[in-house]
Amino acid sequence: MAPSLHSRPFLLLFVLLSLSILCMRSLDASEPYLTLDYYASSCPSVLEIVRKEMECAVLSDPRNAAFILRLHFHDCFVQGCDGSVLLDDTITLQGEKKASININSLDGFRLIDRIKNKLESECPGIVSCADILTVAARDAVILVGGPYWDVPLGRKDSTTANYDLATANLPAANEDLLSIISKFLYQGLSVTDVVALSGAHTIGMARCENFRARIYGDFKGTSGNNPVSNTYLSNLKSICPATGGGEDNTAGMDYVTPNYFDNSFYHLLLKGEGLLNSDQELYSSLFGIQTKGLVKKYAEDSLAFFQQFSDSMVKLGNITNADSFSTGEVRKNCRFVNT
Ligand code: HEM
Ligand SMILES: *[C@@H]1O[C@H](CO)[C@@H](O)[C@H](O)[C@H]1NC(C)=O
Repeated sequence: MAPSLHSRPFLLLFVLLSLSILCMRSLDASEPYLTLDYYASSCPSVLEIVRKEMECAVLSDPRNAAFILRLHFHDCFVQGCDGSVLLDDTITLQGEKKASININSLDGFRLIDRIKNKLESECPGIVSCADILTVAARDAVILVGGPYWDVPLGRKDSTTANYDLATANLPAANEDLLSIISKFLYQGLSVTDVVALSGAHTIGMARCENFRARIYGDFKGTSGNNPVSNTYLSNLKSICPATGGGEDNTAGMDYVTPNYFDNSFYHLLLKGEGLLNSDQELYSSLFGIQTKGLVKKYAEDSLAFFQQFSDSMVKLGNITNADSFSTGEVRKNCRFVNT
């Protein structure tokens, strides 16, 4: 039914009210919204600069793409995406780098420093370390063959880090599926996000200590007793001895194409050859009916994987701690809060 004439004044009132609410919001400096054009006038070359540095770094070693992508994830799950993971330990600040989940395991800090230095000479004091990491992670994915997505910007850097939250919030290789899912739900992410974002393991390496329980555990059971899987398994066992030693020896999580962002990670899960217990559980866990369906879908349809991965990365990058918008800053050096 068409609106009757006498409802028009109400409509107008409504429009005016909504407009005034919109205006009030945009006047509020601490408004916690990210926008695509955040640096359009203050640092128009930001995307170009990050992209160029990432290009050089990934060209010289594709592992750099994996380092940066993981670093962004480990940033966002602790106080939101606020650059907290980048902070070094000082006398007055305990960083997150030495938390058990991160120690001997994260890398890429010097690459972030390099990008930050370039940006400080181009537009001093403008671009937050949290935004740099978010854009760099997007570029990392593109540079190894993955999808493109637009990156909303405007994050602030924290003045604090949280060692305990790093341990509590981040998922670990031998954690069960339900516990991992609950950590993602806690961050406002979904089961679909868990499965799609785990696809990040299509690039990068894991250390022996994170896959020992798996290869001496149910790897044989999930992969069946076929010659190809057995060869792969004995190779893994030679990299990672049962009795200890070689803790830091590494193996690709996607041994087919470890430097290429594709959906072959999901094919490995279908074959029962996932390297981490946490990855294989997405397909093999008794509690993983929904996750199993998604693994199948992304294995069959790489476009669906790419689209969901892009959407899920935007959601990951959108995890914010309201505090960081009011108390946050743009660090001059990503390793230290401003003095
Ligand atoms: C779903 C729960 C997850 C678990 C349990 C998990 C666990 C792990 C573990 C144990 C490693 C190996 C670390 C080492 O041995 O030093 C690893 C590596 C990696 N993770 Fe995850 N991860 C998860 C989700 C994610 C997400 C959401 C991303 C990014 C979107 C991600 C990106 C990476 C990358 C790129 C690497 C390779 C890093 C390298 O080559 O050094 N992971 N992850
Ligand atoms: C990002 O977060 C804000 C508030 O925290 C929310 O309103 C918005 O819908 C989120 N956007 C996406 C793409 O998740």
